Amino acid sequence: MKIEERYEKCSQLLQKYKQQHLLTFWDELDDSGKDRLLKQIQEFDFELLDEKIHRYVKNSSVKLPTNIEPVPEYPALPQNSEQKEKYIKAKRLGTELLSKGKVAAFVVAGGQGTRLGFDGPKGDFKISPVKNKTLFQLFAETIKAAGEKYGFEPRWYVMTSPLNHEPTRKIFRDNNFYGLKEQNVFIFQQGTEVNFSSDGKILLEEKDAIAMSPDGHGGSLKALYKNSAVADMKARGIEYISYFQVDNPLINIFDPLFIGLHVMDKAEMSSKALTKAGPFEKVGNFCQINGKVTVIEYSDLPGELAEKKNKDDSLVFSLGSIAIHIINRSFVEKLNTAGFTLPYHKAVKKISYMDLQNGQKIEPQKPNGIKLETFVFDALPFAEKSIILETIRSEEFAPVKEDESQGPDNTVVAKKMMIARWASWLEQAGVEIPKKPDSSIDCKIEIAPAFAICRQDIEKKKDKIPQIKPGDTICLE
Ligand code: UTP
Repeated sequence: MKIEERYEKCSQLLQKYKQQHLLTFWDELDDSGKDRLLKQIQEFDFELLDEKIHRYVKNSSVKLPTNIEPVPEYPALPQNSEQKEKYIKAKRLGTELLSKGKVAAFVVAGGQGTRLGFDGPKGDFKISPVKNKTLFQLFAETIKAAGEKYGFEPRWYVMTSPLNHEPTRKIFRDNNFYGLKEQNVFIFQQGTEVNFSSDGKILLEEKDAIAMSPDGHGGSLKALYKNSAVADMKARGIEYISYFQVDNPLINIFDPLFIGLHVMDKAEMSSKALTKAGPFEKVGNFCQINGKVTVIEYSDLPGELAEKKNKDDSLVFSLGSIAIHIINRSFVEKLNTAGFTLPYHKAVKKISYMDLQNGQKIEPQKPNGIKLETFVFDALPFAEKSIILETIRSEEFAPVKEDESQGPDNTVVAKKMMIARWASWLEQAGVEIPKKPDSSIDCKIEIAPAFAICRQDIEKKKDKIPQIKPGDTICLE
């Protein structure tokens, strides 16, 4: 079809959906620009887009059901002899499944990381306190060490987005896949969503390009299937996906207890949770709706429920979501063959756009536009069965979200938490950790994954640990 005819068709379509401003700069575009813009417009299902605009962009109020109930969890430490026995069996089963190569690591790394303000994929951010290893390097070394410990060929799936796919691939290549075999690292891209102004108009990023952003970590469930990662898992006999976020350097990627409990209880998608630091901590809230495990965002949980207390003064909705899941490969297959959809969440963000009046690119200083994202935890209610295992914050959750000048999830806190966790592993094995008079740690410690990936690994290496003196900087490798 000639370009004029394509233009005419698009123009009519855009008029119907009140988005004709997308062609504002038509006369200024060269042929390839015209083609690029028309191709992009023709790819969209405008009826669906219009529905999204009305449902999520213009009207964002979340209607919660009235039957929101607390949800039972497995405590971090077993509470009675029956539970103790179950945990022992679960660990044994998890270990067996790991050694048979049934579990793969999966990191979602497609986010834009705007709060951190780091120029490049967040996984390339240097975080380890002594060796300055990046997040990607720490994860890769952990995955490799787990493969050696349990005796399996470790496989790592890495989700990127069109914004950081090529840079991420380059980083892996430049670092020789951090010691993993290249064929064991599967890097693939998630989908994107259109960006809007607050009145539901689609934003132009360039005169010939619509503004798009990654479709949220929930997009991983479609992307795993669409990009044949799931087919690849099947071919390799992988049945369980260990899902984690790129910004949590404390993640325990292969936890035999978590895997074992999930499998023993025949769950399809399970989660780790932590006890919230307070009623309004900015993490999703685990609850139960119609018998299904569900996460309600902190911003959506009504204040009276957030603050509701049990008789012992603990919060009724105390379990916070930390984006750590075990997901059955078959569950991802099932969702996709059934043509599932996840709800969208509206995020008001800074989005650069083309000013329609003067044709200038605007880099806003304040949030100005709307992104629609899906969240992975919204798949939980689709699971026939879902368990929650409580974990201890200091052991497993130190999100790197903001730069040093900002909020509680900042890089300085994460580094301190890494040192504190390693120090506690060493202390438990009888190693003396120097302390200042205020009992803070008076040394810098790093433990490489090759040395230990969990507390129990230290015990076997005690003879390799030197005496640690006040002010020392040590790395156990
Ligand atoms: P965040 O919600 O922290 O978003 O992502 P972000 O984009 O990384 O950071 P900000 O909000 O712009 O500062 C949590 C995890 O989900 C991944 C991120 O890479 C991170 O591991 N994620 C997020 C994706 O993989 N894709 C997305 O579309 C969004």
